Amino acid sequence: MGIAISGTGLYTPAQSISNEELVEAFNAYVRKFNDQNKDAIAKGEVEALQESSVEFIEKASGIKARYVVEKEHTLDPDIMCPRFPERSNDELSILAEMGVLAARDAMKAADKTADDIDAVLVACSNLQRAYPAISIEVQDALGIDGFGFDMNVACSSATFGIQAAADMISAGNARSILVVNPEICTGHLNFRDRDSHFIFGDVATAVVLEDEEVVKTRDSFKILGTRLKTSFSNNIRNNFGFLNRTAPETAGDKDKLFVQEGRKVFKEVVPLVSDMIVSHLEDLGKSAHDLKRMWLHQANKNMNDLISRKVLGHDPDKDQAPVILDEYANTSSAGSIIAFHKYKSDMGVGDLGLICSFGAGYSAGTVVVEKIS
Ligand code: COA
Repeated sequence: MGIAISGTGLYTPAQSISNEELVEAFNAYVRKFNDQNKDAIAKGEVEALQESSVEFIEKASGIKARYVVEKEHTLDPDIMCPRFPERSNDELSILAEMGVLAARDAMKAADKTADDIDAVLVACSNLQRAYPAISIEVQDALGIDGFGFDMNVACSSATFGIQAAADMISAGNARSILVVNPEICTGHLNFRDRDSHFIFGDVATAVVLEDEEVVKTRDSFKILGTRLKTSFSNNIRNNFGFLNRTAPETAGDKDKLFVQEGRKVFKEVVPLVSDMIVSHLEDLGKSAHDLKRMWLHQANKNMNDLISRKVLGHDPDKDQAPVILDEYANTSSAGSIIAFHKYKSDMGVGDLGLICSFGAGYSAGTVVVEKIS
């Protein structure tokens, strides 16, 4: 049986923060901190904070803006964190709400109703609560009879979810499966950390997978192969968790949000991912020359350019490796799926493409696809 991705969906929050707005808020915070601590700084007891710059952000990452669920408090130098009013248990949670919007978009694209879908996987970096699973809430809101579970493989959650869904359909455990990636990355970003305050944005994506024989719509892609890899690293880490309350003295430390050694990540992940892409293609009897397009994880433009050069042997043009991180920033698991969603309809039947994710873990995933309709 062949498995196809027959629909994709995207929910983009209404608000966006430009680099200029972000840096203005960050620098206001820095000036205030340095002013409030000027005596301690003069005595060498406290280190003065340094300002951020729009030029650095764009040059180091390629990011120009990011969509966010809540802008006002994120840009308030006294808060620098989104604020979401607590919802009652009778209301849809905010993560499920975003997921439902992306899922509806994907179901429409695949021409599927709730009756056609048997399972919902919510695959993302940050789950809003311990239980019940967000996927079961999404399943309920969409009126799907079946099962759902949540999974977290950080930035690689979408490709890991796609492989899990494809395997479950092949095994006969479901006919069609929704894989949903709601990412409120601003909730785990330290907006007071100069090295990383610009990195993330918010979004939700979704894909519908099913037996290729029952595909009804245009713009569908058969999965030729999936490959996953993990290799332990502390270079991207977030120690937030349910046991934080058992060590209250460190529960509010910086490592309870996203932290990374960006340079090391860059150096170690580029070869891991480019080798993985080349060997996966080889094992499928293909080469990089056969690829019309790569929808790469969207964390850093320089990183993607280097991976493309290693795989293709030359600089990619924007048709070969489309970029969305300039507008969306890093949206964790959703990045490669946003690129796939936006840049696939111009491809012809028979064209090959590659969805590729990488991130914390380390984790990486490749999905090789061929357009079938
Ligand atoms: N504004 C101005 N300057 C800044 C700055 C900011 N916001 N942040 C850091 N700098 C400075 C540093 O102080 C340093 O100055 P120095 O050379 O005088 O010491 C210089 O810029 C370079 O800093 P560095 O952290 O080495 O930058 P970089 O070129 O490695 O870029 C990243 C940083 C994070 C963009 C880059 O390493 C990266 O993208 N890595 C991969 C990250 C990734 O993919 N993570 C996956 C997340 S899921």
